[in-house]
Amino acid sequence: MLFNTLTILVGIVAFAAANQTPLPRCCNDLNNIDELRGKVYFPGSDTYAGRIKTYFSKSAALEPWCMVLPSTTEDVSLIVKALVANGCPFGVRSGGHSSHPLSNSVEKGITVDFGHMNATAWNPNTSLVSIQPGSRWQDVYDVLTPYGITVAGGRVGSVGVGGLLSGGGISFFAASHGWACDNIANYEVVLADGSIVNANAQDNPDLWQALKGGSANLGLVTRFDMLPIELVGTSKGTIWGGNLIFGSESGSDLINALIDFTDNVYKDENSSVSVSFSYQPKLAGGMVGLVSIENTLGLSKPPAFDGFYGIGAALNDTTRVDTMSALSKELSEGQPMGFRNMFITASFKNDPRPMTYALEKVNKLNAELEEITQTLSANFTTVYTVQPVTESIVEKSIAKGGNVMGLDRYLNDGNGILFLLIVSTDDAGVERLAIPKAQALVRDVEAYAEELGVGREWKYLNYAHGSQDALATVGKEALDKLQAASAKYDPNRIFQKLRTSGFKISQDK
Ligand SMILES: Cc1cc2nc3c(=O)[nH]c(=O)nc-3n(C[C@H](O)[C@H](O)[C@H](O)COP(=O)(O)OP(=O)(O)OC[C@H]3O[C@@H](n4cnc5c(N)ncnc54)[C@H](O)[C@@H]3O)c2cc1C
Ligand SMILES: *[C@@H]1O[C@H](CO)[C@@H](O)[C@H](O)[C@H]1NC(C)=O
Ligand SMILES: *[C@@H]1O[C@H](CO)[C@@H](O)[C@H](O)[C@H]1NC(C)=O
Ligand SMILES: *[C@@H]1O[C@H](CO)[C@@H](O)[C@H](O)[C@H]1NC(C)=O
Ligand SMILES: *[C@@H]1O[C@H](CO)[C@@H](O)[C@H](O)[C@H]1NC(C)=O
Ligand SMILES: *[C@@H]1O[C@H](CO)[C@@H](O)[C@H](O)[C@H]1NC(C)=O
Repeated sequence: MLFNTLTILVGIVAFAAANQTPLPRCCNDLNNIDELRGKVYFPGSDTYAGRIKTYFSKSAALEPWCMVLPSTTEDVSLIVKALVANGCPFGVRSGGHSSHPLSNSVEKGITVDFGHMNATAWNPNTSLVSIQPGSRWQDVYDVLTPYGITVAGGRVGSVGVGGLLSGGGISFFAASHGWACDNIANYEVVLADGSIVNANAQDNPDLWQALKGGSANLGLVTRFDMLPIELVGTSKGTIWGGNLIFGSESGSDLINALIDFTDNVYKDENSSVSVSFSYQPKLAGGMVGLVSIENTLGLSKPPAFDGFYGIGAALNDTTRVDTMSALSKELSEGQPMGFRNMFITASFKNDPRPMTYALEKVNKLNAELEEITQTLSANFTTVYTVQPVTESIVEKSIAKGGNVMGLDRYLNDGNGILFLLIVSTDDAGVERLAIPKAQALVRDVEAYAEELGVGREWKYLNYAHGSQDALATVGKEALDKLQAASAKYDPNRIFQKLRTSGFKISQDK
């Protein structure tokens, strides 16, 4: 213990002394560890440049002093020990789909990049699917489809495993299986002292619970062992789903259909939906309503979607029975990489008024961004998405051992809606002007919902902007669990101090 504290002190002093100039020592020391030779990449190398290009959002693709790409859990342990011993600030990256600066990389420090730990394996002996954090969901589904099984993971294939699972995870199976993280039977995780531990219902159960939604606050996860879901569709690995496209005139019909769907989830937990209002001035000439619908039993047009089909004016309908692989690939195609993206979120009760109000405000934002981008001859798109966070999800979370997502407290408050606004542009100047506008829009929608008595404090970490203190919105009970686990498993607060990317446990609560 004394030795530990000394190491940290020496580390912090070393960091402070070198804070003005980059710390080549941090990178060189890593590079000098035999096992890590050839796994530390510096600016100018092809791998470094290649990894920068695989960030979903250009705004997040900060250039660190160096990147380290471990290939084994033992590598991760050596990395953590070295970073701590030298007091080196670091960021954590898996699929690289978080959008804002400092969400998954750092400028002053080292990015620990899980890109080379990307395997998925189905183990019939344990009946678990082992997934490494650097995998993408597309690879996971491609591996599992031939076995006729899947897991509750991301809906868009290009998204990464590590971030989605550590922050919660909304899947096609949300209503029937809870958050994606609720389906993790065991974590293999490297703690701040470099030790490799397992966390599950028997071993370190407090850590297991806190990792479910606790992001990178407790350790670096090196393997997720997930419960499989058997797909029962007509042919192997299939579900039913796709997209319905509507014109902008259908806005209020779509909102009403979503309200109705959300209140009836308990009758059909195998169906899921998200409704997006997508504005692409240069590409599609305006706003369209994009409704993604799925039924995981493979049933075509189940009654849960009658409200959407009843609108009657769909411009397109890509629904079909297909593999999870094919459907998650289709969803990736609508998500181009390489823009400067901003995600910002809110939540409220299942009530049409805040959704309608937000739609008006998003229309106004689009008009303002049109003017700005015309002046700067740049491009932008916005996507305003609403989706259910139902009582059913929370019930499944509780039944599966609990988490720190912080939704338990709304269980007697009815179903909820998760709001997400995405602004994408190819221009840093537009981004600078758009960010405060989007922030003001969200505050406005939240104030309106509050005024109506349908507001909620909770913000989904995986959709939150860097300016939103997501973990401060999970409520006292969840925060207490998270803080207790942090005090026990990271007593020197390494993941609060040396980790300089991602969301942290609020310091002042
Ligand atoms: C196109 C698109 C579609 C999306 N679809 C969905 C969806 O269907 N459902 C949903 O819930 N979310 C969705 N999201 C949000 C998504 O969950 C987050 O962006 C998530 O962070 C992506 O995971 P990643 O591995 O790519 O994250 P990264 O950006 O690589 O990492 C984000 C953070 O996660 C933590 N982290 C990553 N790896 C580890 C690890 N090994 N150990 C500990 N902590 C770690 C770190 O704090 C890191 O900073 C989507 C995002 C995009 C851009
Ligand atoms: C997956 O990891 C291996 C090394 O384990 C690496 O060679 C490969 O490029 C990675 N795949 C992707 C898509 O990054
Ligand atoms: C499953 O068990 C069998 C028999 O003990 C063994 O041969 C096989 O390697 C195991 N498979 C895995 C993936 O561990
Ligand atoms: C369908 O929903 C039921 C009830 O929630 C659940 O038990 C089952 O696992 C689900 N099946 C699939 C394939 O999603
Ligand atoms: C409708 O969807 C099909 C299948 O994805 C696609 O080929 C076609 O281009 C779409 N049409 C419109 C008008 O979007
Ligand atoms: C941005 O708009 C210009 C026209 O103003 C167009 O040529 C270009 O392809 C657009 N870029 C993207 C990425 O959409």
